[in-house]
Formats: sequence, C-alpha cells, structure tokens
Amino acid sequence: MKHFPLLLIGIFAVLASSFLVFVLTTQNQLGSLKQSTEGLEQNDDGELVMIEGDPLFPAKKPGLADQGSLEYIKMGCVYCHSQQVRRAPLSVDIERGLGLRVSVPRDYILQDRVLIGNQRVGPDLSNIGLRQTDQNWHLLHLYNPQITSPGSLMPPFPFLFELEPISEATAASALVFPEGSEFSPEAGWVVVPSRRALALVEYLLALKFDYNLPEAIILENE
Ligand code: HEC
Repeated sequence: MKHFPLLLIGIFAVLASSFLVFVLTTQNQLGSLKQSTEGLEQNDDGELVMIEGDPLFPAKKPGLADQGSLEYIKMGCVYCHSQQVRRAPLSVDIERGLGLRVSVPRDYILQDRVLIGNQRVGPDLSNIGLRQTDQNWHLLHLYNPQITSPGSLMPPFPFLFELEPISEATAASALVFPEGSEFSPEAGWVVVPSRRALALVEYLLALKFDYNLPEAIILENE
C-alpha cells in the first residue's frame, strides 16, 4: 500500500469536514437565537421585526427558582423527567395535556444547563407550574411521593426537610398533611422545608411555556 498515508489523510478530511458541517449548521440555526416578543410586525422595508416595547420571552426566572434548578440537577430529577413537549404526530403530548404548545429551541436559550432530559419514568415537567400550582402539594410530594400519589415510583427526598418541635415559628412554615395521613409527624412535631426544598419547588412552579413565540403560538383547542 504505497498510498496508505494519503488514504488516512483522505479519511480524516472526510470525517473532519462532515463534523464541521454538522457543528456549523447547528450553530448557524440555533446559536444565534435570542429572546423575542410574542408576535412580530413588518417594518418599512417589509422585514419581520420584534414589536417595540413588548415584553421579551422566554423571561428570566426569579432568583430562588434559579437556585432550585441547581437542586434539580443535584437530586438527579432529570434522569426520570423530561422537559420537552413534542410535536404531533410524533407524540400525543398536547393531547395528554402536557402543554399548551410544543416546545421549541428558543424556549431553552437562557438555561446554562438545558434540562431537557431523555427519559420519562415520571411525567414531563415542562408545564408542571401550570398543572400543579399548590406549593404545599409539591413539598408533600418531595417529602414522600406516597402522601400525594400512592404507589408512586418516585423516590422520597426527606433529607430536604427537618423534623422540628412545634412552635409559633415552625408551625408557620410547616407542611400541611392530609387529614389522618400515616406520614404525619407525631403530635408536638412538624416537618419544615429547608431553603433547598423551597427553592426546588419555586423552580417547579416556574416551569411553564405559557407565552407565545413567533414560531410557537398557543392555539385554542390545538
Ligand atoms: C426514579 C425516577 C424519579 C426520580 C429520580 C424523580 N421522579 Fe418525579 N416522578 C416520578 C414518577 C414515576 C412520577 C409519577 C408518580 C407521582 O406523581 O409521584 C413522578 C412525578 C413527579 C411530579 C408530579 C408530576 C405530575 O404531572 O403530577 C413532580 C412535580 C416530580 N415528579 C418532581 C420531581 C423532582 C423535583 C425530582 C427530583 C428532586 C424528581 N421528581 C425525581 C419518578 C421520578
């Protein structure tokens, strides 16, 4: 094989160029995405531009929710939960009530670490902040999923809570258990969420695609 080095260079060139095209086209399509107004308007040159003065989406999440996203990563929630509403006919996500519209790349541009996930052991959480709005429900569910969802496969996260003797201060922030629950603390004691648990729930409550984007409009009865 006289031309073996040449063959190697050829193989390398083919692989490198296809890799480059793969990276560059993706960067070209997605890398320059920015926040946008919900709708667009035509300017004098006939180009579609953002509507001046309208709010920009996706919006930044409040600070505590940002901290909560770190807890979401640390606790491994992403291994069982996706955050992506897929389009029909590839899925029945919209029919199942997982969202008001499909999710699009622009929805994720403000996330340092995109928690899109690739497994659905539990339900998709893209719009959990629209489906389940009760903070106490989320705290009980994290403390022990069996309280709110008997038979759940989700692990409990009791280390995000403290068992405290009842007092005026602890009672104010304590979890409210359902009447007669077998998981309620003994008389005289309460379960109090840590700051980490509160941040995580703040994050869950902020998970919602309830805004339009020019490429993803919420349609009634979609
Ligand atoms: C081992 C897999 C697993 C892990 C890890 C896991 N979950 Fe779940 N999760 C589930 C399953 C299964 C359900 C459905 C039953 C239920 O509601 O408990 C669920 C349900 C939920 C729900 C209610 C969804 C709905 O539509 O009602 C929320 C909210 C949730 N999980 C949040 C979390 C958070 C936050 C974490 C990380 C702290 C987490 N999960 C970790 C499996 C998991």
